[in-house]
Parts: sequence; structure tokens; C-alpha cells
Amino acid sequence: MLAYQLSDYGKPESHDALDIDAPTPASNEVVIRTEAIGLNYPDLLMVQGLYQKRPEPPFVPGRDSAGTIISVGDNVTTFKPGDKVVAQTFSGGFSEQVLAPVNRVFHRPDGVSAVDAAGAITVFNTAFVAVSIRAGVKKGDRVVVTGAAGGVGAAAIQVAHNLGAEVLAIVSSEEKAALARASGAQKTLIIADRSEDALKTFFKSNVRTAWGDDRGADVVVDTVGGAMFQAGLRGLGFAGRIVVVGFASGNIPAAKTNYLLYNNLSVMGAPLDIHFDHALDQIRGGADWWLNLLAEGKAVANVTKQIPFAELMQGLADIRDQKVVGKIVVTLDPAE
Ligand SMILES: NC(=O)c1ccc[n+]([C@@H]2O[C@H](COP(=O)([O-])OP(=O)(O)OC[C@H]3O[C@@H](n4cnc5c(N)ncnc54)[C@H](OP(=O)(O)O)[C@@H]3O)[C@@H](O)[C@H]2O)c1
Repeated sequence: MLAYQLSDYGKPESHDALDIDAPTPASNEVVIRTEAIGLNYPDLLMVQGLYQKRPEPPFVPGRDSAGTIISVGDNVTTFKPGDKVVAQTFSGGFSEQVLAPVNRVFHRPDGVSAVDAAGAITVFNTAFVAVSIRAGVKKGDRVVVTGAAGGVGAAAIQVAHNLGAEVLAIVSSEEKAALARASGAQKTLIIADRSEDALKTFFKSNVRTAWGDDRGADVVVDTVGGAMFQAGLRGLGFAGRIVVVGFASGNIPAAKTNYLLYNNLSVMGAPLDIHFDHALDQIRGGADWWLNLLAEGKAVANVTKQIPFAELMQGLADIRDQKVVGKIVVTLDPAE
């Protein structure tokens, strides 16, 4: 079978698909015939050796895949060959067959395609951790999402919207504002100037007052980091909380604790991967919930581009070069 097995870390263009042995499942694993692979910003970091965890090459990267189960390990009772599934693995996804631990595999409801499920799994699971598990967003909350047309941002809008929140999306262009509105944001604000001063003024004078009163936002879900995080604190009202999801700007900010103290604010992290270890039931409950939202048409995966397996690394290069609005998904011929 073909797989992007890395012999070394490097830029996306330096990796080719190789013919390697097909996997066999251990007792608590399944093997999935891949029909679709979702590409994410962390995949881009992983192939370059820039992700927080660095497996020793050779290894196959790739976290999001969907397809059909072809074999199961001896202890697996919840899946059988032929089941339609979506998986979120730590690695191994960039392959025609994916070996997955059973706790990272989810049934795909009728009406959710492999393409949509693969495009959605990391971003919706992350959004669920950030918006529901960590921030505890409930009906009527005011939620600001930064990088709101990005993969996680658009999913965060939809999770918050479906929990009954009023969502304000922060984006850098009208094209991105349209995607944020389509995801369920009631309000969008555009700011292309990413300098610290411009962002702070914008959050204080435009974001905090966007609802027409002085209450401010209850929650900011920040996927951008850097100056956007610092500015995000200015958008929060009493007992506001900012959720650190990622650093798409490439800049890891430090929070001034006096500002948190004087304004009664909380900062919280939302790491998806370790929730699989510490809160698996909540992740699985969340995935069932948002997969059903997709099936019922109450949420969308925002897959804007599909590419063949041979172009997978070009897809990661496009994410690096900020050419992608929405989600990019690799499709494989199920007959292969
Ligand atoms: N917590 C977790 O477990 C977890 C899981 C998945 C991803 N993440 C992280 O979350 C972040 C967002 O991921 P994503 O998949 O949503 O990324 P994405 O699709 O590339 O979107 C990132 C958004 O950030 C904004 N942005 C602002 N400054 C940017 C810059 N200098 N370069 C690139 N984008 C910039 C862009 O929106 P505008 O142009 O509108 O500003 C862009 O749409 C990443 O740091 C990723 O590593 C965390």
C-alpha cells in the first residue's frame, strides 16, 4: 500500500509516497481502508518536526481519516469489517490503510460522507473541547472566535451556535467573513491590520461594544495567539474567559496576570490530544453530538477543496502558504 512514510523531517515538498507493508491490527486496534484524509495545520507542523511531539522517523504522519473498516483486533467488539468510520489518530493517517486504536475511531452516521467526516474530525473535536468542555458555553453566552474562517475557528462558531451562543467572528477579509456567517456567526468584524496597537484598539472599541452595551464578551476562543490573544483580553467582560486553542500567527503570547486580576478574567488551555487520555468519554460524547449535527444538516464540514492522494503534500504546502479558506481533504478511490 502507498503511504507518506517520512525518512526525515522536512518541508512538505520533500516527502513522497512509498510502497510499504499493509498493517495488521493488535487486539485493541482496527484497520481502515482510507477513502478521505483531512489536512490540518498540525500536520504541517508534524512533517517539518515542529509539532510539540516528534516521533522518530521513519513514521507515517496524518491524524484525520475516514473510510471503511477492513479488519479488527481480537478484543474489538464495537466495530466490524464493513463499518463506515472516521478516525483521529496521533499518526499513520497519510496512508491507503490506517491502523487505529479503537478509542480513536467513531461510527459515521448515515448521511455523513467520508470527505466531510475526515474534514471535520480534528477541528470539531478541538472546537468541542474549547467551547463546551473548557469554556462551558451555554445558551445566551457571547462568544468571540478569532481566526474564525480557519478550520478550528469555523468549527468553533458552529459548536457555539448550536449550544445557543451569540457568536462574533473576527476575520481578515470579506471572503472569510462570508464563510464565518455561513457557519452561524451572527456578527462578523474584519481587521486586516495585525499590529498589536491596531488589534488592542479594535477589540476595546469595536469588539467589546459589538452588542450595543458595556457587558463585553463572555468567552474568546483564540486560535491565532500573539497580538490577537493580547487584544482578545480587551474584548472580555466581567468573569470573561479566554480559551487558548492555538498559535496560527506563530507567536506564543504571555498573559499579564495583573490584567487578569484587575478585570476578573480567566485564561484556559484547550489541548485536544490529552483530552483523549484524560476525558475520553467527554470526547466521545462530543463527537457523537457534532457528527449528528452534520448528519442533520445543522453543521457543515466546510470542505472547500478536494485533491488526490498524489497531491497530499502540496495540500500541506497550500495550508502553509495560506491559500486555503475552509478545509482541504484528500480523496482516495475506494476501489483501490
Ligand atoms: N488545541 C488543539 O488541540 C488544536 C487542535 C488543532 C489545531 N490547533 C491549532 O489551532 C490553530 C488554528 O488551526 P486551524 O487548523 O484552524 O488553522 P487554519 O485553518 O490555518 O486557520 C488559521 C486562521 O488564523 C488566522 N491567522 C492570523 N494570523 C495568521 C498567520 N500569521 N498565519 C496564518 N493564519 C493566521 C487566519 O485567519 P485570518 O486571516 O482571518 O486572521 C486563519 O484563517 C493552529 O495553531 C493549530 O496548530 C490546536
